[in-house]
Amino acid sequence: MSGRALLDRYKATLSGLARKDRLRTLSTRSGLDFASNDYLGLARSPRLAEAVSVALAAGTPLGATGSRLLRGNDPEHETLEAKAADFFGAERALFFGSGYVGNFAVLTTLPQKGDLIVLDELVHASAHEGARAGRADVVEAAHNDAGAVDDAIVAWRVMGGTGRPWIVVETLYSMDGDRAPLGELIAVADRHDAFLFVDEAHATGVYGPNGRGLAHDLEGRDNVVVLHTCGKALGASGALVTAPGVLCDYLVNRCRPFVYATAPSPLMAVAAATALDIVADEPDRRERLAGLVALAAKRAEALGLAASGSQILPIVVGDNASAMALAQKLQARGFDVRGIRPPTVPEGTARLRVSLTLNVGEAGVSALFDALAQEWEYAP
Ligand SMILES: Cc1ncc(COP(=O)(O)O)c(C=O)c1O
Repeated sequence: MSGRALLDRYKATLSGLARKDRLRTLSTRSGLDFASNDYLGLARSPRLAEAVSVALAAGTPLGATGSRLLRGNDPEHETLEAKAADFFGAERALFFGSGYVGNFAVLTTLPQKGDLIVLDELVHASAHEGARAGRADVVEAAHNDAGAVDDAIVAWRVMGGTGRPWIVVETLYSMDGDRAPLGELIAVADRHDAFLFVDEAHATGVYGPNGRGLAHDLEGRDNVVVLHTCGKALGASGALVTAPGVLCDYLVNRCRPFVYATAPSPLMAVAAATALDIVADEPDRRERLAGLVALAAKRAEALGLAASGSQILPIVVGDNASAMALAQKLQARGFDVRGIRPPTVPEGTARLRVSLTLNVGEAGVSALFDALAQEWEYAP
């Protein structure tokens, strides 16, 4: 077989994606930021940069040089984890290289054979992936429907399921910006002796007292595990899994993505720890973001759109081509707004995902909605 022929099936897949307006390509950032998850504008924070350069100058290595279980366990990792446990109100915390790995790690390690994972149907791809790769049974429940979660657990018990259920949700959904009914979900978890695994990716730093997240009053419970990503509002990268100490010890012993990977950069641990300080010390960032959310909601409603009530504002267009065309029109006018298509979102719900951050002021938000009103012919 010639070298060319070896590549044919990949080319055919890409052509198929292009035919369905689903071909993705990379583009570098340009235009006003309505696309990043840098909600509090921390990625370029001078205080964060200063903390990292001071640590670097003081000899903190760039690379961890090995697994946490070998020589890669730096004091900076341990300092971050102690700070995070204290900050979020959990017994312990464990630092992972990314939120994707954190979700995958937890779901392939903690739910055991004979357990049941109940995923909200809209949880992030990394949770789906981890559940699928793990040993537990997996079912999906209708989005934000605690009754459907309850039904799934009852049905599994009736069929002879004897292990522990794991309920997996996000607190603020990444593509819809809506919130989980946490009170109802923890009640279901308690009723069934189940664990609740909560992904705070888009809420950490933004909501709750001192930015501790929407699940702040559930942290510290024996049946709650939380994932806080560091690459969104915290402006760094990585993720902190907060959990009872015994579960963190179990992850250190049994979690293959933790054991068999080079630890995250110690400098990133310094950045994440500093970001937690900033989030606590500078509440005005959350207040300014709330102001932008209120303004965007008002402008969205004036266009007949339902506001999500958060910094993630989906503008559902429907078909892939129209969503991408609308995004391109706005990009051409200087707004970095990205179209999101299946499989990231359900079929027929291609959308613009407008993300509000402190990288843009009120004038920028108003200008975006002025432009959207003019380009609205593409919307349903
Ligand atoms: C809800 C949710 N969980 C997890 C992740 C993965 O986090 P990270 O980007 O740090 O890998 C994301 C990021 O896209 C997310 O939106």
